[in-house]
This record gives sequence, structure tokens and C-alpha cells, in this order.
Amino acid sequence: MPRLAALALAFLSCGTGPNPPVPLDRPLEPAADPAQIARGQALLAELQCARCHDGDALTPPPRERHCVHCHQSILAGVAAVGGDFAAPPAELARWQRDITHLRELPELRGLGRLRRSFVAAFLLSPHDLRPGLNTSMPRLHLDEPSAQALAAALVPDAEPAPHEPAGDPTRGRDLLGEHGCTNCHAFTGVATITARPLAHPPDPATMLRASQQAPDLRFTRDRLRPAALHTWLADPAALKPGTLMPDPDLRQDEIRDLATYLLTTPLEPLPPPVPPVMLPLLDREVGFAEVDAAIFHKTCWHCHSDPSYASGDGGPGNTGGLGFTGASLDLSSHAAISSGSRGPDGKRRSVLAPLPDGTPRIVAHLLARHAELTGATPELRGMPLGLTPVPLADIQLLATWIAQGRKP
Ligand code: HEC
Ligand code: HEC
Ligand code: HEC
Ligand code: HEC
Repeated sequence: MPRLAALALAFLSCGTGPNPPVPLDRPLEPAADPAQIARGQALLAELQCARCHDGDALTPPPRERHCVHCHQSILAGVAAVGGDFAAPPAELARWQRDITHLRELPELRGLGRLRRSFVAAFLLSPHDLRPGLNTSMPRLHLDEPSAQALAAALVPDAEPAPHEPAGDPTRGRDLLGEHGCTNCHAFTGVATITARPLAHPPDPATMLRASQQAPDLRFTRDRLRPAALHTWLADPAALKPGTLMPDPDLRQDEIRDLATYLLTTPLEPLPPPVPPVMLPLLDREVGFAEVDAAIFHKTCWHCHSDPSYASGDGGPGNTGGLGFTGASLDLSSHAAISSGSRGPDGKRRSVLAPLPDGTPRIVAHLLARHAELTGATPELRGMPLGLTPVPLADIQLLATWIAQGRKP
């Protein structure tokens, strides 16, 4: 019903969008407060950041609990998986085909290059930094002091003063094309830059990973400390060992020109957040099996599972994890879905029932994920948490199934 389309708008409250650019003449950041650093280190463990990220301050959990290591082991083949996860070849092949998320992630190393204020703002309201990566930093259950403490633990040191004089931005723009930077990087908000092929390209598999990991250069001025930008362009691995950005082999004057262009060129504003538009309900009958295959078992089940099946871990959306106490929502069967979730008052509630505007709660969460990727921070957390949004045609399927009385 088209009613849903207009109603979904109500959820797109307070679209803050990505962090607004920081003025270049702002004061340098001092060293972080030791008490805040200690609090942040405790939070890194409490919020289980190491289930996704590798990093200097992080202790990885066993592979059985590490979202990325387990997926990577499976993709590398059964021999590397072993143990409980030894699977018949046909099943392994299916897993390898189905696992599209949480395969590749930035390591939290050398973060002294980032502005502490950027890290805190990003954790509170993450936005898409790497257009080639299909997974985003999830919106965790964080308040402002916790985000500040985490940022203090990740970026404890004082910011060094920039020492390089300004260069020529026009030449900097040409150098981005000449050195083939935009083979890997998007740079939204500036006129298209045509990249020359790289003189020494990495092998195709590394090139693919590098273009997934390369941030959109529009955010560089908000993210990087200017002194670190110069060091990065001179030798990325000196700041972040193991980085996938190859040494660009630049002269000092080229570094100055590139840095000046990256930091100062005017940017077209990002398009304003757009509310997703629901497709009308389908005329045909929709059964549970179809919705389950397209949505619940394809994606949701992995964080909202039956704990008796998954060695006691029902996932962050059911029994808790990643700093969430868990919404007690099991999406692994028709009966479990019908029994709903636990609301903030501790009482169970339906996720299929309509919110005051008529949109079923579960549909509103799926639309919120579309909104997040256009830069909004909707009131409801987008689902699937931090992953590719469910296509609108599949949301239409789910909405139709609910409207038809959710047949088994
Ligand atoms: C479910 C997986 C997941 C968890 C858990 C997670 N992250 Fe992330 N994080 C990501 C992904 C994916 C990105 C890359 C996002 C992008 O580039 O758009 C990211 C990016 C980041 C970045 C930016 C790094 C850079 O180089 O750009 C920081 C900082 C960060 N995460 C910190 C944290 C902290 C602190 C925690 C724990 C409180 C945490 N993350 C938990 C998935 C996760
Ligand atoms: C013990 C190994 C293991 C761990 C740990 C693990 N997964 Fe998976 N994951 C799998 C397997 C196997 C599949 C494929 C299952 C299938 O196709 O039936 C999968 C598939 C998925 C999928 C659906 C496919 C896709 O890419 O969209 C999602 C989403 C997912 N996992 C998320 C997570 C998250 C989030 C975590 C951490 C909280 C996690 N997984 C931890 C083994 C694991
Ligand atoms: C082969 C792909 C590749 C090429 C070519 C490349 N980069 Fe990168 N670049 C990356 C990757 C990957 C990262 C992220 C590194 C990390 O976090 O480990 C990165 C990070 C950066 C960053 C930090 C941005 C941020 O927001 O964190 C800047 C600035 C940058 N590159 C500029 C350049 C410039 C200028 C050139 C050309 C001279 C260039 N890059 C060429 C892959 C590439
Ligand atoms: C990466 C893990 C993850 C994935 C994948 C995921 N969820 Fe969630 N989900 C969560 C977490 C964590 C919460 C609890 C959030 C909170 O407490 O605010 C949650 C909460 C929810 C809620 C809110 C329940 C309530 O009453 O507040 C709904 C509805 C939901 N998820 C639906 C889905 C659907 C549908 C999918 C698949 C399209 C999905 N989720 C995939 C982690 C995930």
C-alpha cells in the first residue's frame, strides 16, 4: 500500500549526515587524559571491537567468535577452518558463495594519524567512508562520554604541528590523475579525475582488496591530522605497517601540492539524505519460505539466531554482544519471529505489529538502513546492522507477507 511510503518518512528524524568539515585553522589536539585512555581501553574489550577489527590495542577472540577471521578461514578453504567447522565440500562451496560481508576490514593500527575528534564523532554517528566496502562501522549503543573515551584510547598522543608550507592545489589535482590515485580512491565532491594506469600495479587480488579499503578522499580533511597526511604520502607503511596503500613514490614538492589540494579544494555538498520509498504491496500471495530465503536466513539469522543451535550464542541481536544486551529477537523460524523481541521496558513485543504511523516495526528497521547509507541518522537503528541494505523488492515481499496475515 502506498501509505507505507509516506509513513516511513516519520522515522527519518534528525538527519545529521556525515560530520561537517572541520576548519583548517582549528587548535592542535593535546595529549589525551590518562583516565579517559584507561576508560577507553576497558570499553574496547567490553564492546568487543576485536570481534571485527584487528589492531594494536585489541586482543582477538577465538576464531569461533571472530566475525571476520571465521569468514576469512572459510573463504580460504576447509583445511584452514578445521575443528568444528570442517564441512563437506558442497557445503563449504555454498558458504564461500554466500559469505559476502565481513571479509575485509580496516585494521585499527597507526590511528595516531587520525583526529581524535573525528574518531569520537564517527563512532557516535558512523557514515560510509569506503565506497568499495559493503560493510560499514555499525551504529553501536554508545553515549558521548564513551565515544570520547574510546577515541582517547585509540588516539592517545598530542597532535604534531604541521611543518610543510602550502603547495599548489591545481598541480595537486593533476598529480592525483598522473599518479593513478583514483584507480583506488573515490573523491566525491570534485570534478572527475581520470587516473593513469599504475606504473607498478599490485596483483589483481591485492588490487581488489586495496580498492575496497581505500577511503573516499573527500573525508581526508576531516579525518587526518595535516602533519600525518604529509608523512602518509611520503611512506604510508611508516604510519600503518601492513597497509594496502602502496608507497606512491612522490617528491617533497609533489606531496605539498597533493596535500594542499586534498585539504583545501572546495567540495560540492553531499546530496541531502533521502527517505527510501517503499514499493506498493504485491497482488500475489507470499509465503514464509520465500521471505525466509530472501531475508531472514540469508542475512538476519546470523545475528538473531537460536542459541540452542549456535553453541549458546544467539548473536548480538538475540542474546547480546558488541555492547548490546540483546533484543531477544530470534529470526530463525516462523514461530520465533512471531514471538517478537524484548522492548526497553523488559516486556515482549511484536516486531511485525505496526508502529503508530502504520509501518510494521521490522520494516521500519530495514528502511532505516537505506536511510543511514544516504547520510541520515534515523531514530531506529538500521538493520541488517552495518551491512548492505535489504533490497526494496525484498522489503516489499516482507511487507506483503505481514499484510496477508504472515502465513506459515
Ligand atoms: C561488526 C563489525 C564491527 C565492529 C564490532 C566494530 N567495527 Fe569499527 N568498523 C567496521 C567497519 C566495516 C569499518 C569500515 C567502515 C568504512 O570504512 O566505511 C569500521 C571502521 C572503524 C574505524 C575507522 C578506521 C579507519 O581506518 O577508517 C574506527 C576508528 C573503528 N571502526 C572503531 C571501532 C571501535 C572502537 C569498535 C568497538 C567499539 C568497533 N570499531 C567495532 C566494523 C566493525
Ligand atoms: C564460526 C564461524 C563464523 C563466525 C564466528 C561468524 N560467522 Fe558469519 N557466517 C559463517 C558461515 C559458515 C556463513 C555462511 C552460512 C550459510 O551460507 O548458511 C556465515 C554467513 C554470515 C552472513 C550471511 C552472508 C552474508 O555475507 O551476508 C552474515 C550477515 C554473517 N555471517 C554475519 C556474521 C557476524 C556479524 C558475525 C560476528 C558477530 C559472524 N557472522 C561470525 C560463519 C561464521
Ligand atoms: C592501489 C590502491 C591505492 C592507490 C593507487 C593509492 N591509494 Fe591511497 N589508500 C589506499 C588504501 C587501501 C588506503 C587505506 C589504507 C589503510 O587504512 O590501511 C589509502 C589511504 C589513503 C589516504 C588516507 C585517507 C584517509 O581518509 O584515511 C590518503 C590521503 C591517500 N590514500 C592518498 C592517496 C594518494 C594521494 C594517492 C596517489 C598518489 C593514493 N592514495 C594512491 C589505496 C591506494
Ligand atoms: C550484525 C548483526 C545484526 C544483523 C546482521 C541483523 N541484526 Fe537486527 N539487531 C542487531 C542488534 C545488535 C540489535 C539490538 C539493537 C538494540 O538493542 O538497539 C538488533 C535489533 C533488531 C530489531 C529491533 C528489535 C526491537 O524490538 O527493538 C529488529 C526488528 C531487527 N534487529 C531486525 C533485523 C532484521 C530483519 C535483520 C536482517 C535483515 C537483522 N536484524 C540483521 C544485530 C543485527
